[in-house]
Amino acid sequence: LGPETGAVPDLLARLQDALLPPALPLPARWHALRRHRLRRASRDLADEVSALMRRRRATRREDSPPAVADLLDTACEEGALTREGATSVIVANLFAAHETTAAALSWLLLLLDRHPHLRRRVRDEADRELAGRPPTAADVPRLPVAGAVVKETLRLYPPLWLVQRTVEEPTELAGFPLRRGQRVGVSPFVLHRDPHHYDRPAAFDPDRWIERPDTPLPKYAFMPFGGGPRNCLGTHFATTAMTIAAATLTRDYRISQSPGTATTFDTRTILQPHGLTLDVAGPRIIDRDVLDRSIFGT
Ligand code: HEM
Repeated sequence: LGPETGAVPDLLARLQDALLPPALPLPARWHALRRHRLRRASRDLADEVSALMRRRRATRREDSPPAVADLLDTACEEGALTREGATSVIVANLFAAHETTAAALSWLLLLLDRHPHLRRRVRDEADRELAGRPPTAADVPRLPVAGAVVKETLRLYPPLWLVQRTVEEPTELAGFPLRRGQRVGVSPFVLHRDPHHYDRPAAFDPDRWIERPDTPLPKYAFMPFGGGPRNCLGTHFATTAMTIAAATLTRDYRISQSPGTATTFDTRTILQPHGLTLDVAGPRIIDRDVLDRSIFGT
């Protein structure tokens, strides 16, 4: 969408609230109220996104790098997509791609602030391997410490902490009968803290991914990107972007939690550090075009 966000962050938060299943069984008429709230929150978000797209169309300069909205715009002009279709692609991606990665990076920056020795290791690795230039996706294999920090962050704080499936055929799971149509939740957050699979499961220990690569984990013991045929399409993209961001931000900035602020768990649809405020100090301002080029190669 470009740098302008309008009311999108607030409306996304409202939609996340509306999506939350009720903690307790609700009387029937409250369900209607919930559905109404959900519809209104989705409509308001879609309206704001299309308003931003319209504004971008009207004000975009020819020489500015294309944002996703511009690519979708072209698809609309060529008749490959309707305007509503383009808006819903953006709304879906705000959730699936943007909010998830943003939440994971927020946890990562908070964890590196709490573990200065790891921050130093990520910075030293970036200094050594990147020699002051902006990284590209091809550098990622040379940044194992940053990669392990990303993995360990996703283990402890998987942004999608609950993945859901609907039962298609009656079956049984661990002795529990499941009826057709029932919803089953699988929590990566819980699986990732299972002491059967992880030593000191609550500890932030990226070295577990570097030092013990030969101890294979069962397939679904680590699933921040879900599993099965509907797993995350952005797995590789997200880990690449996060590793590059971890290395670059740590190399170029001193990022710390603002004094006197507190963070709590926010377990709406996406697990995020609620109330996190960071102070950023550093000699270089990130040039958006340089960062885009290094991540997207365009
Ligand atoms: C740290 C970042 C991310 C995390 C933790 C994450 C996690 C997930 C999870 C858990 C699912 C559900 C999988 C399931 O139900 O088994 C999912 C689905 C999906 N993700 Fe991601 N994701 C991230 C980033 C991205 C990015 C960057 C993109 C796109 C560029 C993306 C695109 C998608 C799509 C399209 C789906 C739906 C796949 C389908 O239903 O077939 N995700 N993601």
